[in-house]
Amino acid sequence: MQNIVIKGGARLSGEVRVSGSKNAALPILASSLLCSGRSIYRNVPALGDVRTMQRLLGDLGAKITTRPAGTTIVDTSTVDNVEAPYDLVKTMRASVVVLGPLTARHGRARVSLPGGCAIGARPIDQHLKGLAAMGAKIELAHGYVTTRARRLHGATIAFDMVTVTGTENLMMAAALADGHTTLENAAREPEVEELARVLNKMGARIRGAGTHLITIDGVEELHPVEHAIIPDRIEAGTLLVAAAVTRGNVLVRDCLLEHLEAVVAKLRAAGVDVTPEDGGLRVRAKADLKPVDISTQPFPGFPTDMQAQFMVLATRAKGQSVLIETIFENRFMHVPELQRMGADIQVEGRTVIVRGPTKLTGAQVMATDLRASASLVLAGLVAEGKTEVRRIYHLDRGYDRLDKKLRALGADVRRSKGGL
Ligand code: EPZ
Repeated sequence: MQNIVIKGGARLSGEVRVSGSKNAALPILASSLLCSGRSIYRNVPALGDVRTMQRLLGDLGAKITTRPAGTTIVDTSTVDNVEAPYDLVKTMRASVVVLGPLTARHGRARVSLPGGCAIGARPIDQHLKGLAAMGAKIELAHGYVTTRARRLHGATIAFDMVTVTGTENLMMAAALADGHTTLENAAREPEVEELARVLNKMGARIRGAGTHLITIDGVEELHPVEHAIIPDRIEAGTLLVAAAVTRGNVLVRDCLLEHLEAVVAKLRAAGVDVTPEDGGLRVRAKADLKPVDISTQPFPGFPTDMQAQFMVLATRAKGQSVLIETIFENRFMHVPELQRMGADIQVEGRTVIVRGPTKLTGAQVMATDLRASASLVLAGLVAEGKTEVRRIYHLDRGYDRLDKKLRALGADVRRSKGGL
């Protein structure tokens, strides 16, 4: 297993370019299953979950070609299998987004139930409720969900809660359904909007993506597409926080302010200077950091995927910060590790109270999930001495060489072959 070793203390400076969005790339790669032929995707991030999705598409019979500088070509003219096996889905629950496209275009799918993960149970009942409303026969057995439908038909679907991949799965299914579909209480994340943009380029007729009400008029057929993936707003936010906690001065290129309003508002409230520059954001943190209160919400609210990173910033602030995690039931796995480094954090259910500033000291810590591992790396940047983050495969699932990016900004961070 690989570890990341960080020697704290460096103030980050310079400039860094954000990679393509993981959470946009995954559903967009899956959308290639809605047509037959060769689609070309650019600015695809080089990270674990994307490699898993490419492997899954290959298992389904597609031909995958990757080119340098982030181009992936998917030829789905040879897709002849509709089963997403357990050993792939258990490593990446987002594999569930092949369910909609396979059911819509091939009339059936057999996908391993994703099961829970470190941050929560993460059921897919909303995905299945929507597919059933569109006429799919759903069967749950042996840990798999099987769908069958001669042809899906349009439906009006109201989500019981905002679900990003649920919205994406059903938007893709509806694109080829017979008739009109309405998705109410749909997720508004930029990645949902980006997927709709790609589907419309493929010939779909989708309106309202980015709002709570999405309407889709199904078409008979979609065609292959060429598309460049939007930048990753969560990687951008993570880099902004890294610059802030190290009191650095960094230009984060290719990050879209409209995707980061809630995060930038909280950084500014903490006393961090964030200004648009050269198609990106410049972040400077000279003064002492002030405490901030955060409650994670669906977009455009403060993203749950930035909660762990902001907890590190809260340990540097003078005073008490309250962070509430409203989306997932168990997304505080980074807390015990931050406490071992000296953070003063109290957990009350889904609320965390952080008192700062506290001196963080380097330690051997264990990554548990993607964003928790990012927060441990950020803590290592400001801790006194050496921090060794183990099980770094969690980080590599969702970030495109984050350690390399931080090193280019002056951080003392390197990989090592861990003992475990
Ligand atoms: C997406 O996960 C993201 N992943 C997550 O990012 C992100 O944290 C999450 O949205 C919330 O923004 C991808 O886009 C690949 P949800 P998703 O369905 O779609 C409950 C990261 O770090 N729910 O929006 O799986 C669910 O349990 C990852 O990049 C149901 O109960 O999340 C959760 O509590 C982590 N039934 C809430 O809704 C359902 O059928 C939101 O889940 C679906 C969801």
